[in-house]
Amino acid sequence: MSTAADDRRSGLHLPGLRDLAVRAAREAANWVAENRPPGRVDVSATKSSPTDVVTDFDTRSERLLRQHLLGARPDDGILGEEGASVDSRSGVVWVVDPIDGTVNFVYDHPCYSVSVAAQVDGESVAGAVVDIPTGATYAAVRGGGATLQTDPAAARRELRVPEPPRLDQALVSTGFGYDSGLRESQARAVAGLLGQVRDIRRVGAASLDLCMVATGQVDAYFEQGLNEWDRAAGGLVAAEAGARVVDLDGGRPSRRMTLATAPGLHDELVDAVRGCGF
Ligand code: IPD
Repeated sequence: MSTAADDRRSGLHLPGLRDLAVRAAREAANWVAENRPPGRVDVSATKSSPTDVVTDFDTRSERLLRQHLLGARPDDGILGEEGASVDSRSGVVWVVDPIDGTVNFVYDHPCYSVSVAAQVDGESVAGAVVDIPTGATYAAVRGGGATLQTDPAAARRELRVPEPPRLDQALVSTGFGYDSGLRESQARAVAGLLGQVRDIRRVGAASLDLCMVATGQVDAYFEQGLNEWDRAAGGLVAAEAGARVVDLDGGRPSRRMTLATAPGLHDELVDAVRGCGF
């Protein structure tokens, strides 16, 4: 794994990438917030399953992100949830989720976000998550910490994961994939965990789940089956706030598992999650 010193040597200015991620994510988030109609939003297509939906807002938001990011850095690549795919000539790839929490967005539930991360060699080095309904902006840079700005006029607050409780007092969030077979096995496993923790939350937007670990609004988050765009920015925010963000074996988070928690709760949570059959 490379370090902040390696990034300086390679000439990458990570705070500049973070600030670009913030500007691009805010522009897309503001556009979505200003243009969504009241009530429900129409679904324009489905993807991996009939419940995995896309709206015109996802597509338009991704286009805005692509224009903003490549307008500023034309040699970078893009990997987007709605199909944006541009090879990188600079070594930097922007991993974007134009609306994370699309089902919340469709139903007008408040938790949905724009998520933008700059990656080098598959690792996030800078990123931002903007909570669309509130405008709250989470940002992070590798080796430089994580911040929350509740609105553009407010000061940035440094984020630090609080000391966690023991597992039986922990509030743990999770999510479920779009494949019905996977959902059934995830539900059986979560049922086993429910008696071992304070409670379970299903927020519906992985990027915000990860940011909530950073703020201490939940004590831990885990989910199987995430895509890179779901966790690329939020995972960096959680890690830079002091959380361990790993898979079940302590390696990089993967589709098999993304688990984020304060270090003091990690081992107990991993044992419990494994014990439930994940
Ligand atoms: C989904 C959300 C959800 C998580 C799913 C993701 P999308 O992303 O983050 O919380 O449980 O695994 O696919 O489809 O809304 O961008």
